[in-house]
Amino acid sequence: MSQIKKRKKQHIDTVQNHLVEPSDSSFDQVKLPYKALPEINFDNISLASQICGFEVAAPILVASMSGGEQYGKIINTRVAEACEVENIPFGLGSMRIVLEKPESVTTFAVKKLSPSVPMFANLGLVQLNYGVGYDEIMRVIDLVGADGIYFHINHLQEAVQPEGNTNYAGILKKFEKIIPRLKIPFVVKEVGHGIDYESAKKLRNIGVEWIDVAGTGGTSWAWIEGYRRLKENETMNERNLGYIFKEVGISTVDSIRELKKIDGLHIIASGGIRNGLHIAKAIGMGAQVGSLAKPFLHAALDSTEAVISLIQDLKYELKVAMFCAGIKNIEELNNLDIK
Ligand SMILES: Cc1cc2nc3c(=O)[nH]c(=O)nc-3n(C[C@H](O)[C@H](O)[C@H](O)COP(=O)(O)O)c2cc1C
Repeated sequence: MSQIKKRKKQHIDTVQNHLVEPSDSSFDQVKLPYKALPEINFDNISLASQICGFEVAAPILVASMSGGEQYGKIINTRVAEACEVENIPFGLGSMRIVLEKPESVTTFAVKKLSPSVPMFANLGLVQLNYGVGYDEIMRVIDLVGADGIYFHINHLQEAVQPEGNTNYAGILKKFEKIIPRLKIPFVVKEVGHGIDYESAKKLRNIGVEWIDVAGTGGTSWAWIEGYRRLKENETMNERNLGYIFKEVGISTVDSIRELKKIDGLHIIASGGIRNGLHIAKAIGMGAQVGSLAKPFLHAALDSTEAVISLIQDLKYELKVAMFCAGIKNIEELNNLDIK
């Protein structure tokens, strides 16, 4: 098995079998206003939303997770099928492996199962310093027929990863040259350690319009890589690099608070979103969409029906949250301006 395939499999096994969430969801601290007399009909509450210009049934996105190895095809297939039924967007996992092993594209090729919902490709931004340029980006997009693309920034993960790519020097300049040539919408995301105001501002200044904050409070990628550093028979311990850095970063809630000060920036909230109430709070604070990874991993490893059922639960919980606040659509929820 190639190193990259092995790594992806280890990631999924680690998320399945170990504690990878070092802190509580930051949304547990946020309050949604409560209206005792809402004067709206629950059945008329609308979740209709937009992401990157695409109309979807609800502001819920299945976060980028997988592809490239045995679980990848299963996960992407079940997620694509479920998202088509429920009319919500989803992300594919990092597609760098496709550039190294073109045959692995089959594990990402699920667009035919989800023709009517936006599907986002995914590449690490740091790869711009490791041989990836405009042509490679367009190749991965075209190979799977993606509607948009996520570029992830993950320097902490890469630094803890035993074989990580840690040269981020000059990345912004390279990205700036590529942005005007991108033919589809794109989003910059972290992977679970959050995005600060200054970095988001720099991204906005070069033309980035959508950022997924992927903050702390959920899956910690430093910790996951820490498990991969353990030697045989070694258990997690205080000297483990991933253990030391597992909670470093900015919470999802704090990232939203900072980034909503930036004009023209649209925010996707991920990192510790675990239910529809969390999604309602994220949107009430100023995000456009809420996104989850870990809960969907467990569902996708079970069945397409389990993914559908989770999406339906999230939609219902979001509606109940809106009912409690007397709000009938996503635009009104977004205007709440929860601090
Ligand atoms: C199994 C798994 C694989 C992931 N792979 C990727 C990836 O390839 N690219 C990426 O940008 N993020 C990846 N992520 C990060 C998620 O998209 C998300 O930002 C992060 O897990 C925080 O969300 P959560 O707390 O809901 O899990 C992965 C997450 C999980 C659980």
